[in-house]
Amino acid sequence: MLKLSPRLQMAADMVRCGKTVCDVGTDHAYLPSYLILNGICPKATASDIGEGPLENAAKTVSAYNLNNKIFLCLSDGLWNIGENDADDIVICGMGGELMVRIIDETPWLKNPAKHLVCQPMSHAEDLRRFFVENGFSIDKETACEDSGRVYIAISAYYTGNKAEYPPGFVYYGRLPVRTDALARRYVKKQAQRIKNRICGIENNKDYSAEYNSLTEALEDIERMLENADG
Ligand SMILES: C[S@@+](CC[C@H](N)C(=O)[O-])C[C@H]1O[C@@H](n2cnc3c(N)ncnc32)[C@H](O)[C@@H]1O
Repeated sequence: MLKLSPRLQMAADMVRCGKTVCDVGTDHAYLPSYLILNGICPKATASDIGEGPLENAAKTVSAYNLNNKIFLCLSDGLWNIGENDADDIVICGMGGELMVRIIDETPWLKNPAKHLVCQPMSHAEDLRRFFVENGFSIDKETACEDSGRVYIAISAYYTGNKAEYPPGFVYYGRLPVRTDALARRYVKKQAQRIKNRICGIENNKDYSAEYNSLTEALEDIERMLENADG
């Protein structure tokens, strides 16, 4: 049976049972194959911008005899995927900025029936900022450890509501920092990243706006971590 890495398993666990799925940037199509083989999804689209990754995907799909359940599609983001092709859209293993571009280019995602599962490798703050400023609501986040590194996954739906959010929210989102040591470890790493950036720009007037907003974010994150530890 196909066993996913902890990182992909974390994303797969967020997919809704019985829904059709599109895995964007699928590479080996491990995630959609797992979802079908385990009866979680009835059918899936495995898409990628590259021919090579789609060839990898084709090998996995054939090896598990899933040719009638998984549709392979060459596509930049969701450009070649139709609104009716998927309920749950999974995007794993890319940077947060690229995920923002892919989601922003797909107007049909602004539908409460669609569900986004994103596993950003970097710049998750860009993705959270995009979500909260564009009417998407983050309902859940999780963290896992894979080969010594902590990864996160974000689940979000479009609601149309653009809520106010605390200055550090884009760095910690809905990660369960109170109950999960891995989530805390991840957020502490984000705080260190911010501190390093602040040190690099603190004496440069050209960056005073960024300095001020990062300082505010850092204070909020540290307060939140203190409450979580206490
Ligand atoms: C690091 S791999 C991640 C593979 C798999 N999703 C995972 O998390 O293990 C990134 C994949 O995204 C694909 N990719 C990059 N930019 C893309 C885009 N704009 N649209 C679709 N796929 C893209 C790459 O070709 C590559 O196969």
